[in-house]
Amino acid sequence: MPPRKDLFLNRVDFPEGFVFGAATSSYQIEGHAQGGAGKTHWDSFAATPGNVVGAQNGDRACDHLNRWPEDLDLLRDANFDVYRFSTSWARVLPEGRGTPNAEGLDFYDRLVDGLLERGIKPAATLYHWELPQPLADLGGWRNRDIADWFADYTELIMGRIGDRLWSAAPINEPWCVSWLSHFAGQHAPGLRDIRATARSMHHVLLAHGRAVETMRGLGMSNIGAVCNFEYATPADGSAEAARAATLYDGYYNRFFLSGLFNKSYPADVLEGLGPHMPKGWQDDFDTIGAPLDWFGINYYTRKMIAPDDGPWPHHHEVPGPLPKTQLGWEIFPEGLHAFLRRIHEGYTRGLPLYVTENGMAAPDRIKDGDINDARRIDYLNAHMAKVKQAADEGIPVKGYFVWSLLDNFEWSLGYDPRFGIVHVDFDTFKRTPKASYHALARALQR
Ligand code: NOJ
Repeated sequence: MPPRKDLFLNRVDFPEGFVFGAATSSYQIEGHAQGGAGKTHWDSFAATPGNVVGAQNGDRACDHLNRWPEDLDLLRDANFDVYRFSTSWARVLPEGRGTPNAEGLDFYDRLVDGLLERGIKPAATLYHWELPQPLADLGGWRNRDIADWFADYTELIMGRIGDRLWSAAPINEPWCVSWLSHFAGQHAPGLRDIRATARSMHHVLLAHGRAVETMRGLGMSNIGAVCNFEYATPADGSAEAARAATLYDGYYNRFFLSGLFNKSYPADVLEGLGPHMPKGWQDDFDTIGAPLDWFGINYYTRKMIAPDDGPWPHHHEVPGPLPKTQLGWEIFPEGLHAFLRRIHEGYTRGLPLYVTENGMAAPDRIKDGDINDARRIDYLNAHMAKVKQAADEGIPVKGYFVWSLLDNFEWSLGYDPRFGIVHVDFDTFKRTPKASYHALARALQR
């Protein structure tokens, strides 16, 4: 046994009704090559040399498609209240539109029932990044029609499971769907194109709004949105560095907050993206800003930003001085507190907030049958303390989700970065709970 290490906060330290959960996503855990799912742009991206470390892909992932009962038992035994998972568009609609895959619909139906049977609240996300390839062929997020395609998919899957969900959110991390995938080229479809970026940033929010309207039409409640946030820090004390960090904050954080809650986009971001926006974007804010019941914050790290003479946005990231995770991400829990306050005061104004993802990657190895991920316990401790501080200050934060239940496919970084509180052997698919899993299970006892 590794030395027993506890979290220093327990369930009782948080407000009455506060929920704890773990999060995953479909392509990262299910094993996409099974069960009749259609090809996605992540399959194509991963099949292109140089895009994913080790040329890995989501074909088998954690084999969750077959092992889900064991995974739901793990959630239950850790005393989690909620499970945040995503449904795969291409598993439900292999062509993105048209004929559904009955096996896919049945899978999510059983998953939701399996959660309820175990006393766990199901929290579904409709899109966690694997776009059906036939829709990518039509331009994907660059094509305004994606809002209609997404609304139809929403109607289908929510018509099947929406009656039993605790909560639902349309799209995980709009910044990653748009900027990271169309400007930085790091995720599928791997573009580096400012016009595609501007269009996808707007269309991802439009599709979000259409899905919210569709779910309201089905009579669903507890509908929210999930965005990711990075705390932008100027690399030095100069006015130029301050401006660079502000613009990073603009296209990373403020663009989506402002679209969802203020029915506008920030002027500094439009200075760069304005000429590339799709025609008529100004008329879409009633849909984009459809009222929400909660807002989810995914938070991991901060970035140090330095100005440069390159094209807009005229800056780049530089390494910071703080302790880092396996991915080189600085550990900066203060940023989580700052975002909770800022989002509550500046945008959501009283709406319940959830930390829908937080966690760290570590090169965890099994030693004598155990995994001693003490650094992850420290990371969780530090971030949970910031969440508690925010709650104590009256910020309406109502829940905290660990990323992730399982080690899984970390996108272009493959299987090496391990984010799970449960270790997965990717040859045998054996699950081994880590010390952090046991610490959470003790802290969350009811
Ligand atoms: C955000 C994403 O939602 C998830 O897919 C990813 O694995 C984690 N962050 C860690 O990078």
